[in-house]
Amino acid sequence: MAKQKRVGILSAGGDCPGINAAIRGVGKTAIVSHNMEVIGISSGFSGLIHNDFEILTEEALSGILTLGGTILGTSREKPFKKTGMPGADKPKLIKKHYREMGLDCIVCIGGNGTQKTAAMLAEEGLNVIGIPKTIDNDVFGTDFTFGFDSAVTIATEAIDRLHTTANSHKRIMVIELMGHNAGWLTLYAGLAGGGDVILIPELGYNPKTVNRYLLDRAYKKKPYSIVVVAEGLERPAEETSAAAYVAKMIEKGTKIETRTTILGYVQRGGSPSAMDRILATRFGSHAVQLIADERFGRMVINKNGQTTSMSLKDVGGKLSLVPKDHSLINKARALDICMGDQ
Ligand code: F6P
Repeated sequence: MAKQKRVGILSAGGDCPGINAAIRGVGKTAIVSHNMEVIGISSGFSGLIHNDFEILTEEALSGILTLGGTILGTSREKPFKKTGMPGADKPKLIKKHYREMGLDCIVCIGGNGTQKTAAMLAEEGLNVIGIPKTIDNDVFGTDFTFGFDSAVTIATEAIDRLHTTANSHKRIMVIELMGHNAGWLTLYAGLAGGGDVILIPELGYNPKTVNRYLLDRAYKKKPYSIVVVAEGLERPAEETSAAAYVAKMIEKGTKIETRTTILGYVQRGGSPSAMDRILATRFGSHAVQLIADERFGRMVINKNGQTTSMSLKDVGGKLSLVPKDHSLINKARALDICMGDQ
């Protein structure tokens, strides 16, 4: 009889809604459909370095689909960077513990940094499968990451709520959304929330264009405006917040009272949306199929609506940014939404 396979799962990098749904998707499919054993590794790559893990039974995986965060914990530990633990060879420790845990594969749930580390561990000879997650939707090679849809929903609701208070006070409201260097979340939530100006790092912006648009709107259309900005927007180094910088620029240029909101970690918290639960479940179950087929060194992706996979080697270090000619940018322009650059 073939040896029972042992699969490790870890979540690394910033958390997001849907990680537990993915852990459940991997774990239950592995146990129920493939008779594999499942090990949960604590706090990302840190758990592999410190040999910190627990066996995940089917019962332990029950009731976590709707839970935000990650039952395994997470960390931003980057084992190939020479930081912390002076003198320790972290990749060597990881390989030792991988062997001692009796693993046949580790599933690494994470964003760009995690997939890069996963690719390097695969190069070191470990069997690795990547699952992309992040509210930023910026993992190279996949059309969507889970976490993104939930964050778009949360951010849209926040923008919706700004409309009424902006209208009451006849103010301009600037809201800053997360996304690291990418503008996906700002573009989607900006459109869904009826933003009047949407500023993303990929397009850049001209202050004169933005102020002229807002003044024109105040004279001709509505006495209030909503400006949605991405945290990664270019600004002078001393300006810590994109929203504060843009608001100052607007108030100076238009003389209209302007307020800022930085939505922050609310975007990453709480229960995943239905679409994220489904995407995470699809990703989890596809990861197990790859393990069963012994197709290691791959990351699960969503491409043109299909769940498939690509080599981790081709993901490494690259970002998925919003293309300047993305159809949603063109749709926004056609609705007379100001994208800041023209
Ligand atoms: O990568 C997801 C993300 O939420 C980014 O949008 C944000 O820049 C970053 O994480 C902040 O995360 P932390 O404070 O946990 O490092």
